Amino acid sequence: MLAKRGLHLVKSLIYLNRDKRIDLSRLDYNRLACLEMCGYEIYANKIEGNVAELGVFRGDFAKDINTVFPDRKLYLFDTFEGFDNRDVGTEVGKGFSTGDQDFSGTSVDLVLGKMPHKNNCIVCQGYFPATAKDIEDKFAFVSIDTDLYEPILAGLQYFYPRLNKGGYIFVHDYNNEGYKGARQAVLEFCKQQQIPFVPIPDLGGSVIIGK
Ligand SMILES: C[S@@+](CC[C@H](N)C(=O)[O-])C[C@H]1O[C@@H](n2cnc3c(N)ncnc32)[C@H](O)[C@@H]1O
Repeated sequence: MLAKRGLHLVKSLIYLNRDKRIDLSRLDYNRLACLEMCGYEIYANKIEGNVAELGVFRGDFAKDINTVFPDRKLYLFDTFEGFDNRDVGTEVGKGFSTGDQDFSGTSVDLVLGKMPHKNNCIVCQGYFPATAKDIEDKFAFVSIDTDLYEPILAGLQYFYPRLNKGGYIFVHDYNNEGYKGARQAVLEFCKQQQIPFVPIPDLGGSVIIGK
């Protein structure tokens, strides 16, 4: 019955008696468990660097990043007004997606209100990559979740060179037919850099790029 509704029961990991920082009982278990486990590797291997999310919307995944990395600065990149027409133009022109998703109902205050360690949060409001221009930092973990080809490619070009060795970048929607530009951006970037990635079976069909 659940499978018919597109829902699949997943047993949580066995033999992993670590402290869990985030609530893994929520949707989407695979995405959350991967975040938790990558966070564990980053701390266990003493990987330095701050963390970021490009594409925050209402801050639901950013809150989990902030929870897993309580002692790191968290950069929050978003227009907080939805897609930019420049990016939508490419989407429609190349037939990647319709670019008409509604991202209303968010604000900087709403997002910060969800953060357990809001003093560590740095809000970068506006069009990415312009909002990253003056930032001098290195990263251990980055989530790229902007749906569209242009900001995903720009995100990889910006963050990958600034990712410390042992760090991870999650890119949402690689295996999402609704956003074909996400796949194209990952393939193009990883081919050009000659780097591999791991697809994971979360809701959005994310990939994880390590360094
Ligand atoms: C799918 S939502 C993010 C969802 C969020 N990561 C989560 O898991 O809850 C995509 C977000 O990307 C933002 N976005 C898309 N293109 C952008 C750009 N070029 N610069 C800044 N933000 C952008 C949109 O405003 C939107 O809030």
